[in-house]
Order: sequence, then C-alpha cells, then structure tokens
Amino acid sequence: MNRAMIIGTGSALPTRVLDNAELERMVETTDEWITSRTGIKTRRIAGAGEETSKLATAAARRALVMAGITPIELDLILVGTITPDMTMPSCACLVQKELKATRAFAFDLNAACSGFLYALDVADKYIRSDPKLKIMVIGAETLSTRVDWQDRNTCVLFGDGAGACVVTGNHQRHGSDPGEGLGDDAGKDKAEDDQKKETRPGADEDERGYLGAKLYADGNLWELLHLEGAPGRNPDLSRADHNSEPSIKMYGPEVFRHAVRAMADAVDKVLIEQGVSVKQLCLIIPHQANIRIIHSLGEHLALPLEKVYVNVDKYGNTSAATIPIALDEANRQGRLAAGDLLLLCSFGGGFTWGASLIRW
Ligand code: UT7
Repeated sequence: MNRAMIIGTGSALPTRVLDNAELERMVETTDEWITSRTGIKTRRIAGAGEETSKLATAAARRALVMAGITPIELDLILVGTITPDMTMPSCACLVQKELKATRAFAFDLNAACSGFLYALDVADKYIRSDPKLKIMVIGAETLSTRVDWQDRNTCVLFGDGAGACVVTGNHQRHGSDPGEGLGDDAGKDKAEDDQKKETRPGADEDERGYLGAKLYADGNLWELLHLEGAPGRNPDLSRADHNSEPSIKMYGPEVFRHAVRAMADAVDKVLIEQGVSVKQLCLIIPHQANIRIIHSLGEHLALPLEKVYVNVDKYGNTSAATIPIALDEANRQGRLAAGDLLLLCSFGGGFTWGASLIRW
C-alpha cells in the first residue's frame, strides 16, 4: 500500500536561552512555580536572522541531508505556523527561496499547535495519489514575537524553534548522496547521521509509513486560546510600544482541561481505528505544552514514562514546532528503529487537536 514515509528529520533552535531565573527578573514569578506547574526550565528566543523562515530553512536543510536528497528534488513545501515572518508571502515560499527548491510549490497551514500533524496528514494525502512526490513538512514558530512579556500567565510558557521532515512514498528508493545546495556542513551532518543510524532489522517496506490520523477542530472554543492581528517580523522586545501589539491570550486552566481530554480521546480513536494496542507502541511524542498534561496522557494510556518523549523542560511550548523538534531529537538519539510504532498527538488554539500513528 502507498503511504507517506519519513526519510529524514531536522531541527533548528535559536541560540539565545531564556531561563526561569531571568524570567523571575522580568515578571512576578519563580523558578519553583514554573517548574512545578509546567515542567519548563528554559526556552529559546529568536534574535536577528532567526525569523521563522530562517529557523524553518535550517531545520529543512538538516532533514534533506539525512534524507539524502537535494532541494531541487522537492515537489512541495508545507509549513505549519502561526508566526510566519509576514502575512504574505507565506513562510513556505520564503523557505523555498532560501533552499532554492525551485521545483516545489509551497504553502503555509495554520492549525496552531496541531499545525505539524495537520501538515503531515496533507502530505500523506498527496503521496497516496503520487508516491514519487518528495515533500518537506515543517513546523516552525517564533512565538516570542507574539507574547506579552508582562503577562506571567503566558510569557513563561512559550519558545521558538523549528522541526522538519522529508516524506515520500514508502516504496521509493531512499538514501542517495546529498548534492549541491545544502551548505558547507552538509557532508559533516551526513556523516554524523550515518554513524547514528541503527542497523536493526526493518519491517516490511509495505507495512511502513504513515498509517493514519484522527484530526479534529472546534471553533466554538476559539476565545480560550487566541492571537489577534497580523504577524510581524521579530519586533524589538525592548520597544516601549511592544505591548500595544496583539499577543497570545490564554485561559490556561480551561485549555488544560480540554487538552487532556481531547488528546486522550484522539489517541484512543486512532488506536482503535488502526487496530493497534497501547502495548505495541514504541514511542509517543505528545505536543510539549506542559509536563502535567504529558503525564496525564501517559497515565491515561498506562504507558511507562520512558516511552513518552519529553523535552518541554528545554524548549517550552513552541506550538507547531514541538512535535517535529522532538521527532528529530528522538530519531538522532536512535530511539526509533524500522518497524517501530510511533504515536504523535497534539492540542492547540482553534481548538485543533489530533493523533497520528506511524510505523517507522
Ligand atoms: O499549546 C496549546 C495548549 N496549551 C496548553 O495546553 C496550556 C494549558 N494550560 C496550562 O498549561 C496551565 O493551565 C498553565 C501552566 C497555563 C497554568 O497553570 P495552572 O496550574 O492552571 O495555574 P492557574 O492558571 O490556575 O493559576 C494558579 C495561580 C494563580 O494565582 P491565584 O489566583 O491562585 O492567586 C495565578 O495567578 O498561579 C498564578 N500564576 C503564576 N504564579 C507565578 C499564573 N502564572 C504564574 C506564574 N508565576 N508564571
């Protein structure tokens, strides 16, 4: 059966680290409160030259190297984001320009924190109709540009970053050498990736790839988590009028309750639909918003903690980027072997939520 298969992953994070101690000096908060209520210790904040499109491009380059394909081979670039550099052109078009992926068409998709899951599902639909397509799927955000840095309810939660993956049909040949256009460190990256690749026996190619998803939305609840106004290009946070710009508004406890219930429900439904039991899962990568939400999902599924991927402590909530960043980390750590069952699930503004199942 034809289905999308991930053949390379990559991620990119801004260099600046903002820790809880620094936040203690900015708003009335404490490291103890942030850690115990959210699990977050640090987050990354984008600076000059680290706009959403730049982070997305850097993540995409790493994914291309691992996939062993060149930018010119890409047919489509999809970016899940709520913080594009500007309203028009799309972030995806800017990535296409940066990569010189001149054959690819490109568009953004706004599903808030579920943006990557939605985009992966769209990519799968294209690939089912033409398995030769090579699609770059990215989740990228610079939420720090849209946070009210005087609102302790939200500013401690969010961070910036990007994750990407290359997908193509599960029956295509994979892993040719990287060619032109990937930058100076392409060869080094490729060598590192080859070293880390596991040689565990793989499952039958026909069984591998994107098995399916259950995706949902409920616009009735939009007010509980929203961001008004047009996006801007990394506004200077020190500017006096910064807070006059629209920023993220969230009714945290309400969102928390919905997130726990909705993600558990989506996960149950996709497992039932695919005939997979929780015990068969090798790894679950949930949206990284709050360690307590992640733990309640783990408890709901009765999954041992080591099967639940967590990096919210390092990067906070990077919206559409949390899952692809975590996926890239898990992949490079060798936590995924051919044939492993991987579950992704998300919840975000809209509301949007869902779960998808992949046989690696
Ligand atoms: O990515 C999209 C999905 N987003 C999410 O899933 C986020 C879901 N929500 C959450 O993660 C949590 O609701 C939060 C982390 C946002 C808040 O945690 P909470 O345990 O629900 O706290 P709360 O909002 O009920 O606030 C409890 C107290 C309040 O004080 P009072 O009224 O009890 O005196 C808040 O004012 O904590 C206070 N508070 C803080 N205190 C210190 C809120 N933010 C802070 C802070 N530092 N940063």
